[in-house]
Amino acid sequence: MRGRDALYPRENMKILVTGGAGFIGSNFLQIMVPRHPEHSFVCLDRLTYAGNPLSLEEIRDARNFAFETGDVADPATVTSVFERHRPEAVVHFAAESHVDRSIHDPAEFVRTNVLGTLQLLSAARASWAPLGGEFRRFHHVSTDEVYGSLHDEGQPAFTEETRYDPSSPYAASKAGSDHLVRAFHRTYGLPVTITNCSNNYGPRQAPEKLIPLTMLRAVDGHELPVYGTGTNRRDWLFVDDHCEAVWMVLERGAVGRTYNVGGGDERANIDVVRSICVLVAEETGKAAADVLALIRFVEDRPGHDWRYAVESSSIRRELGWTPKSGMEGGLRRTLRWYLSHPKWVESMRSGEHRQWLEKNYDRRLRAAADKPTRTDP
Ligand code: NAD
Ligand code: DAU
Repeated sequence: MRGRDALYPRENMKILVTGGAGFIGSNFLQIMVPRHPEHSFVCLDRLTYAGNPLSLEEIRDARNFAFETGDVADPATVTSVFERHRPEAVVHFAAESHVDRSIHDPAEFVRTNVLGTLQLLSAARASWAPLGGEFRRFHHVSTDEVYGSLHDEGQPAFTEETRYDPSSPYAASKAGSDHLVRAFHRTYGLPVTITNCSNNYGPRQAPEKLIPLTMLRAVDGHELPVYGTGTNRRDWLFVDDHCEAVWMVLERGAVGRTYNVGGGDERANIDVVRSICVLVAEETGKAAADVLALIRFVEDRPGHDWRYAVESSSIRRELGWTPKSGMEGGLRRTLRWYLSHPKWVESMRSGEHRQWLEKNYDRRLRAAADKPTRTDP
């Protein structure tokens, strides 16, 4: 483990942000581009189903922002971006990020998450190798899912020392990418940092993930699929708090270090879904009982991790990070964002999204309809 070995430049840093049209990347850019006019930001994004140019609308014309459409797994694209923009820092968000999609189609996850990370590391190494002590940083954004599952409520939360034990193809591909990032540090001295974060929620998240899926379907009066018994637990964090953590680590994190980031707000899925139902009723004038009646317990996710909980005392103690948003306020803010951005919502519910709903849910919901209705897990 090495300490900081270079001065952080105050001005004119060029930061390459991959996956910046996705959920967390776009929130990161929406915060950092206006806050840091002294730096310039280049977003490299392939604009898959999860990437949306509308998520960057407010900063599209900012003087310190540029957008490149391209694939992080394509060596020619990545080399060209490094040659033309000469970034001094990389914040690597780009990934295939949905566990359920990785169960249907793991290959794309290995291509983007493992090979894509390798291409970026190789380009950073080639581009930064001749330089001396100037500030350079490759920050890799990763997940708590690399640690696998906690099995009971008394088991201690994941620390940075917890053994990797990924369950899904998504988690395995992220674990592979984390190992590559560390290997580039140990082997070639690349100045890297990693964050492993718990479940994020907030504006601009693709409506395939539990929270936006439940919100938008509840607003439309569609059935709300809850996997298994709904007792699986997740540690939720409002997306802005994750973005602040990433910036702090980029700015002041020790080279070679990993920092866990967690909200410390652990809840069973069914409790989250019920809270959303009540919130949707409050914000739309529907009757809460009618929204709650949309809940369906459906066939479980294969290999479903039971519980995630993240111990984030290192980043709190060493860098002074602390989450600012509580879940009740954060959920209401998120729902209001979706309700006030119908154009964004429609653009994310294109043909591809409908095909996804059919592929992942139609059979599950039909099977649930054949069973007696359950109101409790
Ligand atoms: P997302 O799916 O919303 O966005 C991913 C973005 O990457 C999209 O804009 C997509 O177009 C882009 N992308 C995908 N493949 C690409 C490729 N080959 N080349 C270039 N761009 C490509 O994901 P997210 O939820 O914003 O997650 C961002 C990162 O944070 C991921 O690395 C994920 O593993 C990690 N993470 C997410 C969470 C969470 O709760 N969402 C929690 C912890 C860590
Ligand atoms: O923990 C960090 C991870 O959180 C990130 O690395 C991933 O990119 C991100 O997608 C998220 O993964 P999860 O699988 O935990 O998130 P998701 O929203 O898909 O599911 C949350 C929980 O809700 C999980 O236990 C599965 C359950 N679920 C999900 C969906 C989509 C349902 O019960 N029904 C659903 O329809």
